Amino acid sequence: MGTDNSNFSNVDDSPLEGLVGTSSTMRSVYQMTRLSAASSSSVLLLGETGTGKELIAAALHKLSDRASGPFVRVNCGALTESLLDSELFGHVRGSFTDAVRDRTGRFEAAHGGTIFLDEVNSTSSTLQVKLLRVLQEREFERVGDTRTIQVDVRVIAASNCDLNLEVSEGRFREDLFWRLNVLPIALPPLRRREGDVEALVRFFLNVYCQANGKEIKKIHPDALQALVEYQWPGNVRELQNYIERAVVLSQGDQLEPSLLPTAVIGDSTAAQVAVFRPTDDQSLIRELVYNQLSKAEKSDTDLYRQIVEPVEKELLVQVLHACNHTQTKAATRLGINRNTLYKKLTEFGLAKSKSDDAETES
Ligand SMILES: Nc1ncnc2c1ncn2[C@@H]1O[C@H](COP(=O)(O)OP(=O)(O)OP(=O)(O)O)[C@@H](O)[C@H]1O
Ligand SMILES: [Mg+2]
Repeated sequence: MGTDNSNFSNVDDSPLEGLVGTSSTMRSVYQMTRLSAASSSSVLLLGETGTGKELIAAALHKLSDRASGPFVRVNCGALTESLLDSELFGHVRGSFTDAVRDRTGRFEAAHGGTIFLDEVNSTSSTLQVKLLRVLQEREFERVGDTRTIQVDVRVIAASNCDLNLEVSEGRFREDLFWRLNVLPIALPPLRRREGDVEALVRFFLNVYCQANGKEIKKIHPDALQALVEYQWPGNVRELQNYIERAVVLSQGDQLEPSLLPTAVIGDSTAAQVAVFRPTDDQSLIRELVYNQLSKAEKSDTDLYRQIVEPVEKELLVQVLHACNHTQTKAATRLGINRNTLYKKLTEFGLAKSKSDDAETES
């Protein structure tokens, strides 16, 4: 997401409480978090889904001198504009149909502590204006009220989309962006945390073994390799989910590749085909067909076309190439009629011309 954390050699870079991983990208995050905790300036947490933004927000609060005050989280993406308005700022009785009594908003509830505005990118432009005012003046009014309320609140916001892009496309106010972005902390995607996958796998194995009364101490090398090579689009949350499932399904004392979803082990099977080439032609074909079949849907009724056609097409391409694109020669090599060859080339979108005049075409 663009922003890289700075590195401060003199700041403690050990993992924060509850966080696993000692990759250099995460060590900068721990440093940034420790440095930011000391102040009351706004923090903007950026990072893909499942990278640990909520964990960092909570850690920041705990490390700050507001730790004894409240930590209030509001998911701005989960509520409609008007509900979020009264959730954040409160309302007075009668201000709208369902407002049967006065209500304290979350900003007031967070007084003396921290408010975590999760998915802040989802707020409407009207609410963005209100947020800007709270950030600048530390004051607001409840919905339907004229009385101004002042609060002492530290704001942490998170976005799981690129806020720079939201600003440049006019969906997020630039002034609010700068108010929030005083201390940006970028959570790296899991695929950019060298060495952390294994540590996280072992951590969650332990967590879920304890929870399920199981004992899995070993990880099959193929399982580990697949986990390390996987790209983790859902980041730590995705990893946590797979390990929980594997532990529940496991019947032995080892994390087996078969306990992992094909999304994960599929990658390494493909890699293995490349590395350990089958020893004879038949197993090469068996491997190829097996791989193609495993990609097909259960309901498919065109397996012949799906699997044989690409092979046929590749054969024609290679033979034609070897015959300098002379169709007559290629037909002879293939042992098929030249019209049949032409028909197939047309079918596969490879035909240029039936005439041998065009045989130099590539
Ligand atoms: N470094 C870590 N060590 C241990 N657990 C982690 C780590 N990072 C994330 N987790 C766990 O992964 C899950 C997802 O983390 P979290 O909810 O903080 O992500 P997020 O960035 O807020 O995701 P989203 O954008 O989807 O809300 C949580 O269960 C959290 O405890
Ligand atoms: Mg979150």
